[in-house]
Amino acid sequence: MAKARLVRLWLALGSVFMILLIIVYWDNVGTAHFYLHTALSRPRGPKPPPTAGPERAQGLPADDADAFLDVLPGSGQAQSNPVAGKKSRPLPPASHGPPLSNMEERVRGYDWTSHVAATEQSQAQAARQAHRQRLLRDLCANSSFVFPTKERAFDDIPNYELNHLIVDDRHGVIYCYVPKVACTNWKRVMIVLSESLLDGGRPYREPLAIPREHVHNSSTHLTFNKFWRRYGRFSRHLMKVKLKKYTKFLFVRDPFVRLISAFRSKFELQNEEFYRRFAAPMLRMYSNLTSLPTSASAAFRAGLKVSFAHFIQYLLDPHTERLAPFNEHWRQVYRLCHPCQIEYDFVGKLETLDADAAQLLRLLQVDQRLHFPPSYRNRTARSWEQGWFASIPLAWRQQLYKLYEADFVLFGYPKPESLLQN
Ligand SMILES: *[C@@H]1O[C@H](CO)[C@@H](O)[C@H](O)[C@H]1NC(C)=O
Ligand SMILES: *[C@@H]1O[C@H](CO)[C@@H](O)[C@H](O)[C@H]1NC(C)=O
Ligand SMILES: *[C@@H]1O[C@H](CO)[C@@H](O)[C@H](O)[C@H]1NC(C)=O
Ligand SMILES: *[C@@H]1O[C@H](CO)[C@@H](O)[C@H](O)[C@H]1NC(C)=O
Repeated sequence: MAKARLVRLWLALGSVFMILLIIVYWDNVGTAHFYLHTALSRPRGPKPPPTAGPERAQGLPADDADAFLDVLPGSGQAQSNPVAGKKSRPLPPASHGPPLSNMEERVRGYDWTSHVAATEQSQAQAARQAHRQRLLRDLCANSSFVFPTKERAFDDIPNYELNHLIVDDRHGVIYCYVPKVACTNWKRVMIVLSESLLDGGRPYREPLAIPREHVHNSSTHLTFNKFWRRYGRFSRHLMKVKLKKYTKFLFVRDPFVRLISAFRSKFELQNEEFYRRFAAPMLRMYSNLTSLPTSASAAFRAGLKVSFAHFIQYLLDPHTERLAPFNEHWRQVYRLCHPCQIEYDFVGKLETLDADAAQLLRLLQVDQRLHFPPSYRNRTARSWEQGWFASIPLAWRQQLYKLYEADFVLFGYPKPESLLQN
């Protein structure tokens, strides 16, 4: 008697649990289905064998996320092999909607040369993208290529290290932002896509209309590190579901050029926060200065600025990371974005920003709605490297390369031999 009641109780508890799971799932992922299956769905063949990709071996453990997905409606192995999936699906041609091109055809005749050129261009872009992803995958699977945290499982990444992954549930997109790589504008795009910020009661539609201070306010964005507070112990499950189903992208840049850019914006320009947190301690440690002004403006007036050499010395100083990890502006991309644990579907580069941005927005099928903001700033270029590193001793340059080597290799940036040999 008591046994039967116990069984019924368990059954009831089980169904409540399933219902909860489904509610949580639909609440958060459900809305993305429409977009995913129209915009991003890839061939959903039978489950690939467990050896299908290197990511199975060390990245996301497939087991529980798979089991979770399999019981849910409309889910499948959508993301099992993004590269193959994308290769078999040609990029949408440079998009004019059909009505417009038909009309153009009738009114002015159709310009086939530009169409062919556009197709060739998008094929070249698709090939470039496939190459970047293959490089990343091969290196993650290659056991003779090693860097710290490479072999760590996704479950072992602490929550606070997932704070760069911004989620848009409306379109099924995850963006890992890397500071100094057009991240302000990509964050703006994510705000427009996810409608996460209102302007007088209505979501922003135009990326450039969003004020900078809102863009960089972390409360504007839904990031993975906030999942724990929201979803408790379901959070890792949900992250894995989203990582499996959503389109994940990041933008990278030549690592040394990124460092120069970080130095220019945080130490050449007057920045109170960076002065207090970084410049003043560097001046104290590396210039033997004891009494320093308390504000950046006073320090600048007195001609007290950190030099690029101080900055490099700080990066190489073994004491630096004893207190806190590198600030995000100079933290290595592999530590910000976990490229061997998260299988990125799109790797953009600042060096090809305009073409990559257009290609990505086309892939996401949002290119009719928004454009990536053009940047007019005086961008740090690779050709400046020789000049900037002229004051840096050769031994330091070599150590610095070691420190950022994983970023160079993973993202296909050639070793800057001329800086490292003399
Ligand atoms: C693995 O990496 C090493 C060097 O890092 C390279 O020499 C080797 O060819 C790579 N192996 C494969 C299978 O790609
Ligand atoms: C960030 O936004 C939140 C909510 O809009 C606001 O309360 C907070 O003051 C903002 N923080 C900064 C540093 O502006
Ligand atoms: C700073 O002071 C230390 C000892 O107090 C000395 O060894 C070092 O050479 C000084 N460095 C500079 C740049 O003056
Ligand atoms: C860009 O900045 C560099 C150094 O900060 C300066 O030498 C150069 O003249 C600037 N170029 C333009 C076009 O402003």
